[in-house]
Amino acid sequence: MPTSVEFHDRMLSLGLARVSEAAAIASADLIGRGDEKAADQAAVNAMREQLNMLDIAGVVVIGEGERDEAPMLFIGEEVGTGNGPGVDIALDPLEGTTLTAKDMPNALTVIAMGPRGSMLHAPDVYMDKLAIGPGFETDVVTLEMSPVERVNALAIAKGCKPSDITVCILERPRHDEMIAQVRSTGAAIRLITDGDVAGVMHCAEAETTGIDMYMGSGGAPEGVLAAAALKCMGGQIYGRLTFRNDDERGRAAKAGITDLDRIYSRDEMVTQDVIFAATGVTGGTLLPGIQREPGWLTTETLLMRSKTGSVRRVQYRNPTH
Ligand code: FBP
Repeated sequence: MPTSVEFHDRMLSLGLARVSEAAAIASADLIGRGDEKAADQAAVNAMREQLNMLDIAGVVVIGEGERDEAPMLFIGEEVGTGNGPGVDIALDPLEGTTLTAKDMPNALTVIAMGPRGSMLHAPDVYMDKLAIGPGFETDVVTLEMSPVERVNALAIAKGCKPSDITVCILERPRHDEMIAQVRSTGAAIRLITDGDVAGVMHCAEAETTGIDMYMGSGGAPEGVLAAAALKCMGGQIYGRLTFRNDDERGRAAKAGITDLDRIYSRDEMVTQDVIFAATGVTGGTLLPGIQREPGWLTTETLLMRSKTGSVRRVQYRNPTH
């Protein structure tokens, strides 16, 4: 039985890097071409093809959408050769389709893998998110706090002034009040137009990225992927699903979620050790984008294992001739 085979995350992680590299390379020709759908489709096709070469009995738990909406890499799709451990897979073949289409920073391909049952089956709804990097006590900031309270609490924990804190927020009208509150503390804000997986990951490397805290609502699937990243990098993330209508509540029911108000911690979204890979598509603070030179495409992939906390940066030079 495939599920009785142990999840050898050590060897599988190298395969995972290939999967995320392939998705990035496939989207390379679509950077800056104004066609989000084509960029996404290219990444999806390549990610699926590579995933199906891995010796796993994989199930997509965070994917491109529900079966009736997404023909490939839909939630519940079985991937891999079937000869290997039973694993859950969370993926976003192109996180930042608009960033890619417009050639703006921080578009990534992202994938995480863990044993069966290791990741929250988050429906495709919004999630309120709050994240900080490693080195702080649990609950130093919480979703129940107001944005002002969060900035002040983090400043006390860091031993700095609120004005020394930088918060990352998705620029959306729904965040206007949150942005005003954070500004009232004197904290700086890095507004991003898309890509909150990268936004959250920035908190884990605050010294390099300059981001101390992420807050705001974005996709719930991206919340689980971000939790997988922080499980490897360290740091805290909290998420609460939000629902705009009965259709969205129905999606939660279908995913087996009964407590609609529950706040999930990082380790409740990702309950066991996972492996995580992200490849830069367009250049950003965490990862360089795809580099072109005559005859070659070069990618960089962040490859991490939560069990050991190991972090690899894998550079891949792919001949184009
Ligand atoms: P896509 O790559 O699917 O376009 O998602 C980009 C993104 O910015 C996510 O990072 C984020 O979670 C979500 O969209 C926010 O949703 P919305 O654009 O509806 O505010």
